[in-house]
Amino acid sequence: MQSTKVRQRRIARAQRPGGPEVIEVAVEDLPEPGPGEALVRVEAAGLNHADSLIRSGGYVVTMPFPLAVGVEAAGTVVAAGDGAGVALGSRVCGTGWLGSCADHVVVPVERLVPIPDGLGFEEAASVAHAGAAAGALTRVWPLTGRRAAVWGAAGAVGRLLVAWLSRNGTEVIGIAGGDRVDIPALLGAAHIVDRTAGDVAVQVREATGGRGVDAVFDPVAGSTFRTSLAMLAPRGCLINYGQLSGAVAGTEFADLFNAGGVFVTKFNAGAYVDDYADVTALIGEALHLAVERPEVLSPVAARFPLTEAAAAYRALESGAAGKVLVVPGLSQGDG
Ligand SMILES: NC(=O)c1ccc[n+]([C@@H]2O[C@H](COP(=O)([O-])OP(=O)(O)OC[C@H]3O[C@@H](n4cnc5c(N)ncnc54)[C@H](OP(=O)(O)O)[C@@H]3O)[C@@H](O)[C@H]2O)c1
Repeated sequence: MQSTKVRQRRIARAQRPGGPEVIEVAVEDLPEPGPGEALVRVEAAGLNHADSLIRSGGYVVTMPFPLAVGVEAAGTVVAAGDGAGVALGSRVCGTGWLGSCADHVVVPVERLVPIPDGLGFEEAASVAHAGAAAGALTRVWPLTGRRAAVWGAAGAVGRLLVAWLSRNGTEVIGIAGGDRVDIPALLGAAHIVDRTAGDVAVQVREATGGRGVDAVFDPVAGSTFRTSLAMLAPRGCLINYGQLSGAVAGTEFADLFNAGGVFVTKFNAGAYVDDYADVTALIGEALHLAVERPEVLSPVAARFPLTEAAAAYRALESGAAGKVLVVPGLSQGDG
């Protein structure tokens, strides 16, 4: 193994299911990368809503506790196990890096994505997870030459999704709120809808000559589900990929019949990618898109030192407008 001089690391763990208060930062011996693994010094870890759902203990994805929190980060390779085939000093990012809220994390090399010139660590840590999701989402429903509405079109996933779908020849209606409403147009959306300015389904129907859209991408769930059904064209598809307002309750087959024989799916990213090589290819594509079109990058809403990981998750969960990062190199009070 090639190695670093550092002997210990700090890592954030949720001690039990619960809110951000269950997160504690431990100091422990630095793990050694095994065969096919790399040790990455984390420069920036991106926080994601799924981290919070999994930590709550009440989500469809369950993990054992204590749980090392975070899945997304960007950093520098500082050591590599046998056969890893990765150069020390490489700038890398990715998702599926379990326990990324740490100053060092061991990652299987197939989950490392090179950061292209022109992008910094914070930018890469803001794009990796969203890029994998947005890329896989474009595979769900055939949409070239058709229309789609995207909720949260100014969010991390939404921005990439709008840009990706528009580039693929989909007429996109970007839905955003308040002062972020102009952002989807910068990313290629043909129409924008301000969700704070009246009935969203009515606005979407107006934008489509009354027909509605062939697909709706909805990360919100509980509070938007019926509105999403109401904006679909006959035989359209509602693609739910998150539950920012809680789970959907009380749906009947009759609702789908009345909406025009529509389809509804709960997106499972794993069902739309072949393997990690496929995931890293999607992230690579998203990173290059971010180099070409910096507007796809969600702005950084807040940076926290690792010692304040719990506060960072509190910021994410209170609706920060933009990406929340944990930056291990920051000292307490710097954020
Ligand atoms: N399944 C997967 O593989 C996967 C992967 C990544 C993310 N996700 C999910 O995707 C969702 C978005 O993640 P993200 O990282 O893009 O989050 P984000 O950057 O925080 O963006 C979320 C967007 O949703 C909008 N929003 C929030 N609450 C809303 C509400 N009540 N009604 C309508 N719009 C609302 C906000 O936009 P406005 O206020 O401007 O409307 C915000 O820009 C999350 O649910 C996350 O769990 C899933």
